[in-house]
Amino acid sequence: MQMSNMERTVKEKMRAIITGVGHYAPEKRLTNQDLERMVDTNDKWITTRTGIKERRILDKEKGISHMGIRAAEMALSRANVSASELDLILVATVTPDMPVPAAAAIIQKELGAEKCWGFDINGGCAGFLCAMATGAQFIENSRHQKVLVIGADKMSAILNYEDRNTCVLFGDGAGAVVLEAASDGEKGGIDDFDMHLDGTGAKSLFMEAGGSLHPATHETVEKRMHYVYQDGRNVFKKAINGMSEVSARLMEKHGLKGEDMGLLIPHQANLRIIDSVSKKLGLTPEQVMVNIEKYGNTTAGTIPIAMSEAWEDGRMKKGDRIILSAFGAGFTWGSLLLTWALEGKAPRT
Ligand code: COA
Repeated sequence: MQMSNMERTVKEKMRAIITGVGHYAPEKRLTNQDLERMVDTNDKWITTRTGIKERRILDKEKGISHMGIRAAEMALSRANVSASELDLILVATVTPDMPVPAAAAIIQKELGAEKCWGFDINGGCAGFLCAMATGAQFIENSRHQKVLVIGADKMSAILNYEDRNTCVLFGDGAGAVVLEAASDGEKGGIDDFDMHLDGTGAKSLFMEAGGSLHPATHETVEKRMHYVYQDGRNVFKKAINGMSEVSARLMEKHGLKGEDMGLLIPHQANLRIIDSVSKKLGLTPEQVMVNIEKYGNTTAGTIPIAMSEAWEDGRMKKGDRIILSAFGAGFTWGSLLLTWALEGKAPRT
């Protein structure tokens, strides 16, 4: 006899399954050679220190909703879900179109998702994982059936293109995931997550002005307080330790060794961070998704963009154990373990 969803909540937890992933990257490219003409840097330094060759830049007059909508449309179409079926939209971003209203509201209207609610989540570079963990809860407790999780950032809007320490690292982009309640007997989905917050890191990566403490004034603009600053060395070390420790703990908790893993999809901030984390987890290069050379660090966008491309490339097979891991401003960091539930590759668009 088939169990209804209501009966199942009493007997076992509902599972949240990824049924579609999509992404969007603006067409305009900013290469290392372009940056050589803007600041005192060079392709060799950027490539060897970060792994980045180019990043994408969104038009000045567009906000992240432009990218989030397109990524969402791709994810919804691949999941065969219409926007009107969505219960909840979560948007992870540090660069919403504007402080009020939430980017989720702008995206909801454009998608025509008339019966849902939603909100934005600011978890820095780990924002997409914060949003995935949040979205999965609403499905696991049987409150919702279909949740859209978007990670989108327009870092070009908050970068100082005279500061070589930061402007070479970031780019613009968005990715989106459709989470659905598993149907009876369906295997796979979000297995577990382990997220952390440590505010002692607040001074290592921040944008000082534009909030309630330092609203925009001529002075904040003159003092360049609307740009991102970071202590790269400190963030670098903390990111390696944070991502590898949490991922190792999750793997151990679920009885998984390096050779049991399908794919690690890490936040794309620096190739050396990704390589160190992968080695610590005992993974081979084939088990690690890397696309940092094309996009740089798109903050909340990196993981869903990488997941969408990994699916297109056939790098995730049904039943594969996948780890998503990120570290960012806050500090906020963590990992999410899932079992891939889809057959075949995503169609390239
Ligand atoms: N081009 C050329 N030289 C540069 C440069 C650039 N774009 N940026 C910095 N440098 C210089 C520095 O000024 C420094 O010069 P100095 O030794 O004369 O002072 C030198 O290169 C080395 O700097 P350092 O900070 O030690 O380099 P690094 O090996 O730590 O790499 C980062 C710097 C930023 C690439 C690295 O620390 C990093 O990726 N950190 C994590 C950043 C991140 O992505 N965070 C986002 C959230 S996760």
